[in-house]
Amino acid sequence: MAAGKFQAPRGTLDQLPGEAAARARVHHEMARLAALRGYGHIATPIFEDTELFARGVGESTDIVQKEMFTFEDQGGRSLTLRPEGTASVVRAYIEHGMQKLPQPVKLWYWGPFFRHERPQAGRYRQFHQAGAELIGSDSPLVDAEAIIFLNELLRRVGLGSGAGLRLRLGSLGSVEARAGYRRLLIDYLNEHRDRLSPDVQGRIGTNPLRAFDSDDEGTREVMAGAPLLIDHLDSADAEHFAAVRQLLDDAGVQYEIDPTLVRGLDYYTRTVFEFTCDRLGAQSGVAGGGRYDGLVEMLGGPATPAIGWAAGIERILLALAAGEEPVKVDVFVVAADNRREEAFRIVEQIRAEGVSADLDLAGRGFKGQMKQSNRSGAKVAVILAEDGTARLRDIAGGGEDRDLDGDIAAAATALV
Ligand code: HAM
Repeated sequence: MAAGKFQAPRGTLDQLPGEAAARARVHHEMARLAALRGYGHIATPIFEDTELFARGVGESTDIVQKEMFTFEDQGGRSLTLRPEGTASVVRAYIEHGMQKLPQPVKLWYWGPFFRHERPQAGRYRQFHQAGAELIGSDSPLVDAEAIIFLNELLRRVGLGSGAGLRLRLGSLGSVEARAGYRRLLIDYLNEHRDRLSPDVQGRIGTNPLRAFDSDDEGTREVMAGAPLLIDHLDSADAEHFAAVRQLLDDAGVQYEIDPTLVRGLDYYTRTVFEFTCDRLGAQSGVAGGGRYDGLVEMLGGPATPAIGWAAGIERILLALAAGEEPVKVDVFVVAADNRREEAFRIVEQIRAEGVSADLDLAGRGFKGQMKQSNRSGAKVAVILAEDGTARLRDIAGGGEDRDLDGDIAAAATALV
């Protein structure tokens, strides 16, 4: 890098105007569907006490062990750029006494998140999530509501039929039921210890479930014969899972049961789910979530069941192949040199009517302005000639130019 030339930090993206329209459509759809379903919007700080994520996300996760952007502030406090949203939303739920509101409390959010991962297409160190959390109900109806919402969002933004969207569904059971299964799995992993990757070996005692997630060939072979949690759910968990599946069937949401679905965060209990998209490469997970019935209590609140999800905005845009879209205005005003100030006034009048308008601001000649007018995507051009006359050109509709007298701004806005 030459001296004085800067680049955005590794793994981060500039959000350029060409992609802004597609991004705004996703945001609009998220806000619209959330309102339709009675979710309130929440925005939490970009950084939190490190301890919140260490405890909330889990000490044994990759996120906490290797991926957090952690720094000390001037007062010697350890702070971390948020790697995910759920711990922060739960912190806010407790801090603001939201357990006193009618339950469940339904919240949605949108914003940047930070993980120090190896960057590649679809995986960044700063990325954006749209998320939803429903806190305060253990009803399977709430699981179904969350999943149907996410399914609806992905389809509405354009990842419907043809995009190869798939929903994988699993259940991790309650903490107690999982403890029994965990012992079973640890015994099994210890029996086959020598065939497991060093990474997995090192985590047998702390997070044996992550072995299902391994890319290592030997580990995969061992895991093909491992006992499955889904076969060891207690009856309450199994009933809950069956009820969720029934509700999804009734709603016409298609899914595959994946008994080895493991999520990269420790707080999950019972229902877990992930949407993948065939249009994405290795980073095929476009959205995911699940129940986290123990998290509120773990972070110091009353025992409170909850569920939620988050969708990766960059991955959605990648899957949509959201290409470059030029910034467009409806009206472009072209002016001879002696009428530039008049053009400036007319443009402001058109904008005041709520119609987008622009003009040349770089001193281009008449011809240059005409070219710029065509490139601007404008439907209408107003042409202010040197001799004091004005014409209106219907760029989109074609046909003859129309002479203008009287209120030029009004005539131009009328045509849009
Ligand atoms: P997550 O699966 O870690 O879940 O992330 C959700 C989504 O964020 C992923 O499916 C993916 O689309 C996107 N994502 C994650 N990491 C990256 C990255 N490095 N680059 C680009 N996109 C990324 C959570 O974060 C949970 N908080 C979801 C949740 C909410 N569970 C319950 N409530």
